[in-house]
Amino acid sequence: MSVSQPARDLARPIVVETARFGPPPAGCQSGDIAHVVLTEERLAARARELGAAITRDYWQAAQAGPLLAIVTLRGAITFAADLVRAIDLPVELDFISASSYEGTTTTGSVRILKDLETNLAGRHALIIEDIIDTGLTLSQLVTELDARRPTSLRICALLDKNKPCPIREAPGRLAYTGFTIPDEFVVGYGLDYAQRYRNLPYIGVLKPEVYTRAEQG
Ligand code: IMP
Repeated sequence: MSVSQPARDLARPIVVETARFGPPPAGCQSGDIAHVVLTEERLAARARELGAAITRDYWQAAQAGPLLAIVTLRGAITFAADLVRAIDLPVELDFISASSYEGTTTTGSVRILKDLETNLAGRHALIIEDIIDTGLTLSQLVTELDARRPTSLRICALLDKNKPCPIREAPGRLAYTGFTIPDEFVVGYGLDYAQRYRNLPYIGVLKPEVYTRAEQG
C-alpha cells in the first residue's frame, strides 16, 4: 500500500514571527501587563467546553424555542461572542447593563442602565457574566429578572473569585463557571481598568505602576 502525498498546504510550515513574542514597543497595552493569568488558547478552549455543555443541557428546552442569552455589558461581550458560537442550538441575544447601589446589601436593589428588549416571561434564559467578585450586582440582577417570570434563569460566568456570595449558594443558579481565579484585579478579554484593556486577547494582571500613573493623572 502506498502512502498518499500530503496536501501541499499541510507540508508547508507556519512561519512563527519572533517579533510577536518579543518585548512590546513602548506604549503598547501588553507592556502594562505584569503577568498573564489566562492565555488566549485556554480561554478559547474553555468557551468551547462550556458551549458544548450548554448545548447538551438545553437541547430539549430548545425544541420549544431559542435559548435567550443575556449578555451583561460591557465586560462579558468578548466571552459571550466566543461562547454563543460554541452553542449548537438556536440562541437569541440580548444585552443588559446594571450596577448595584453603593453600600447596599438588600437584594433586588439594582440600577438598570440599559434594559433588555426581550420579554422574559416564559423563556429559558442564561445570563452570560464576565466575573463574580462580591456577586452583589449579579444577585440583585437575578432578583430583578426573576420577577419577570422566565421559565428558567441560570448563570454562566467566565471567572469567579470564589468569595462567599449568595449566588453560589442558590442551588443550580450558577450553572457554569469558566475558571476560579485568585482575588486580584484582572483585565483583558472584555475586562477593563478605567475602560481600557478590554481588547487584550488574554487575561492578565496590571503592573503596579499603571495604577500609580493613573493616580498621578
Ligand atoms: P461584583 O458585584 O463585586 O461581583 O462585581 C461587579 C463587576 O465589577 C463585575 O461584573 C466586573 O465588571 C467588575 N469587576 C470585578 N472584579 C473585577 C476585576 O478583577 N477586573 C475587572 N472588573 C472587575
